[in-house]
Amino acid sequence: MTQDEMKKAAGWAALKYVEKGSIVGVGTGSTVNHFIDALGSIKDDLKGAVSSSIASTEKLQALGIKIYDCNEIEQLDIYVDGADEINPERSMIKGGGAALTREKIVAAIANKFICIVDDTKAVEVLGQFPLPVEVIPMARAYVTRELTKLGGSPIYREGVVTDNGNIILDVHNLHINDPKALESQINAITGVVTNGLFAHRGADVVITGTAQGAKIEE
Ligand code: 5RP
Repeated sequence: MTQDEMKKAAGWAALKYVEKGSIVGVGTGSTVNHFIDALGSIKDDLKGAVSSSIASTEKLQALGIKIYDCNEIEQLDIYVDGADEINPERSMIKGGGAALTREKIVAAIANKFICIVDDTKAVEVLGQFPLPVEVIPMARAYVTRELTKLGGSPIYREGVVTDNGNIILDVHNLHINDPKALESQINAITGVVTNGLFAHRGADVVITGTAQGAKIEE
């Protein structure tokens, strides 16, 4: 199986968590794109979706799935999204696609976070994948200095503007032993919108696409 076939297996397996007549929280990325295709196959049974990015919104709308504004919804049963890394405690690094802030917002109103990944994303310790941090543009240099003090090597993601009009710093060389503490510490830096650690709100269910098919851990 190719990596994309494993992503597809995970994306389609998440369909079993979608209740008839529900509004689903939808993440962003190539694995989620398979989940969106799967949602398209049941779109008449779906009330709609809350989306975490312009890219996912456009794909959902192209399939005829109604988009709800996050502010209209108090609570979602499920939020389905990918990850760049996930550890055994189900903390994640996300934001490879620069959608981390909206992803965190939609995840915050969901009862269950269903993480869909291929088996290359499982790690013992987070940090091999550079940690994305969304930053207000005028704070870029200041936040870069503060992240360096924390032991990281932040690199400005050239040419990328988030859906919220901000920039991304990718922090290399972090060995993240306490994801919750680091998530809080980075979010406390003035000018940081949020960072890609999803530790305070980790995954509840992990669906991993493997060469043998989708493996579900509840
Ligand atoms: C986007 C994300 C994605 O979920 C993450 O980058 C994984 O992407 P993919 O499914 O394409 O491997 O956090 O901001």
